[in-house]
Amino acid sequence: MALERTFSIIKPDAVAKNAIGAIYNRFESAGLRIVASKMLHLSREKAEGFYAEHKERPFFGALVDFMTSGPVMVQVLEGENAVVKNRQIMGATNPAEADAGTLRSDYAESIDENAVHGSDAPESAAREIAYFFSDEEICPRTR
Ligand code: PPS
Repeated sequence: MALERTFSIIKPDAVAKNAIGAIYNRFESAGLRIVASKMLHLSREKAEGFYAEHKERPFFGALVDFMTSGPVMVQVLEGENAVVKNRQIMGATNPAEADAGTLRSDYAESIDENAVHGSDAPESAAREIAYFFSDEEICPRTR
């Protein structure tokens, strides 16, 4: 299968738990390579734009409050079947329903603060990567 890319966020709750390295280790242990990475403190405008498709949902304001409450790590992950693989590593959106050993089971407290984001399809991955990274910031591996 061809290499695929996906977009990932380590959300403010997991950054506050000092879990960046542990979460990166999960990605790398599963065979995903980090080909772009940076820490950001999202503005409300940037967070609202990222979650624009959810703006009519009742939790939208709370989601933007949370995502702007502290720094996040954003990264591009590359590997075979990267979108699905990352969703498996993350676990279900609601940590109460997440399988044991997934990131949300291990690091998330609630559906409101659920530790990580991952693109849900290759098309959204391409859009989300371009929302945060220029081509020059992405470093494909040559070996
Ligand atoms: S998903 O991942 O898109 O299938 O999940 P969805 O249920 O559509 O949720 C979209 C994003 O909103 C977050 N979310 C919530 N935030 C705050 N409060 C509540 N109740 C809530 N429910 C869902 C959810 O984590 C998704 O964010 P991301 O960053 O995509 O994980």
